[in-house]
Amino acid sequence: MMNWLDSHCHINDEAFKDDLDEVLARMVENDVLEAMIISSHVEDFEYALRIDSDQIAFKRSLGVYPGDVNETDEKTFERFKEFFADERCQAIGEIGLDYHWDKENKERQKGFFLSQIEIARKLDKPIIVHSRDAIQDTYDILKDAGVRGVMHCYSDSPEMAREFVKLGFYISIAGPVTWKNARVPLEVVKAVPLERLLIETDCPYLTPVPKRGQRNEPSYVVYTGKKIAEHLGIAEEAFKKRINENYHELFRL
Ligand code: NI
Repeated sequence: MMNWLDSHCHINDEAFKDDLDEVLARMVENDVLEAMIISSHVEDFEYALRIDSDQIAFKRSLGVYPGDVNETDEKTFERFKEFFADERCQAIGEIGLDYHWDKENKERQKGFFLSQIEIARKLDKPIIVHSRDAIQDTYDILKDAGVRGVMHCYSDSPEMAREFVKLGFYISIAGPVTWKNARVPLEVVKAVPLERLLIETDCPYLTPVPKRGQRNEPSYVVYTGKKIAEHLGIAEEAFKKRINENYHELFRL
C-alpha cells in the first residue's frame, strides 16, 4: 500500500503552534506519511528543521516569497543563501511573482525570482513556483530558466498548464479542485499528464471540501487526492503510486 503525501504545506506556520502534535497524529491516521514543509523566512526554516516524526518523512524548502520582496534587504538575502546550500533544504521556494497584492514592484519581484532561479540552477535543486495574476511573466522567465520545478497551487488555464509541462514542470493541485465551482481546476487535472501531477494542501489555507471553513492541514490532502483520482477514473492506489513517484522524481537530490 502506497501512502499519501502533501507536496506543499506550512505546518511551521503560527496557525499550528498550539496543536502540531495532533496535526501530525492525524497525518499518520490518514496515511499522509510524507510532506514538504515550505518556509518563507530563515527562522521558519530553522523551526521546520525541528519538526520531526518517527512515522512521517519530511522534506523542507526555503525561498523569498514574492509578497516579501519589499522587506527583504541584501543582508537578509545573504542569510537565505547560506541555507539554500544546506543539504536539508531540498528545494528553493516558494518563489515567483504575485501581482495580486502589489503591481508596483514588478521589477523587484522579477529580480528576486531570477536570482533564486540562478541559485537553484547552480545547486541543481528544484524550484517551487508561486504565481498569482502573473502567469505570462512567470512563463516568460521560466521558459529559458533551465531549472526543474513545480507550479504550486496551480490556478490558471489548462492551456498554460500544458505549456509549463512542456518546460518540464510539474503542476500541483490544491483544495480548490474539491470546491463547488471547480470547473477550471478539474479541466487542468485532465489536461496535465499524470506523470506531471502533484497534490498539496498549502495549509493553513485553501481547505478542501468537506472541511472547508476550517483551518487546512496536511491530513486533508486525501480529499483532494481522492477527488482527482475519481475525476480521472483512476483507482486510488494507482493514483497514489503515481503521485509518489512524481514527488520523488521532482525532489530527488
Ligand atoms: Ni504556500
